[in-house]
Amino acid sequence: MKNILTLLTLTLLLIACGSKENKKTEIASYTTEKQTPLEKSIADGKLVFKDFCSQCHRSNGKGVGKTFPPLAGSDWLRDKRTESIHAVKYGLKGEIVVNGKTYNGIMTSLGLSNQETADVMNYIMNSWGNTQDKMVTVEEVKAVLK
Ligand code: HEC
Repeated sequence: MKNILTLLTLTLLLIACGSKENKKTEIASYTTEKQTPLEKSIADGKLVFKDFCSQCHRSNGKGVGKTFPPLAGSDWLRDKRTESIHAVKYGLKGEIVVNGKTYNGIMTSLGLSNQETADVMNYIMNSWGNTQDKMVTVEEVKAVLK
């Protein structure tokens, strides 16, 4: 009887360990292999945003008063795709109207690579309720000349 119990305990332990390992590999493959190119770009863009944009546009994308325009729900970002890519890559200054509000500030060029520009564009175009029809690619950024 005692032997059977020991055997049972061992078997249960083995099963428990086995299933734990299975779960681990499932999570690992979800975050790497199963990530679509867009998901990867958005994830990378989130890091770019945190380092290069959030101090002005804030991590909630709402901007700051009359100084820094919002990206969350921005009609400028939604309707001016090429201009937005240009602004992020090369900077932007002068009067612009975002959601009916006039801004007249300066965003200097942040020195991002084409890849970082594409990634951060995909992040801001797919965050805070913003939606995007088509992913921004490195080729598209490359085609937007200074
Ligand atoms: C130093 C502050 C600052 C930083 C950092 C900054 N911006 Fe801006 N951004 C501005 C200002 C100011 C404007 C408005 C410029 C104007 O009035 O012409 C602007 C405008 C914009 C616009 C167009 C208007 C809108 O709200 O849709 C986009 C898109 C944008 N920024 C994206 C970004 C992204 C992405 C980053 C990071 C890679 C970034 N910005 C970093 C200050 C900043």
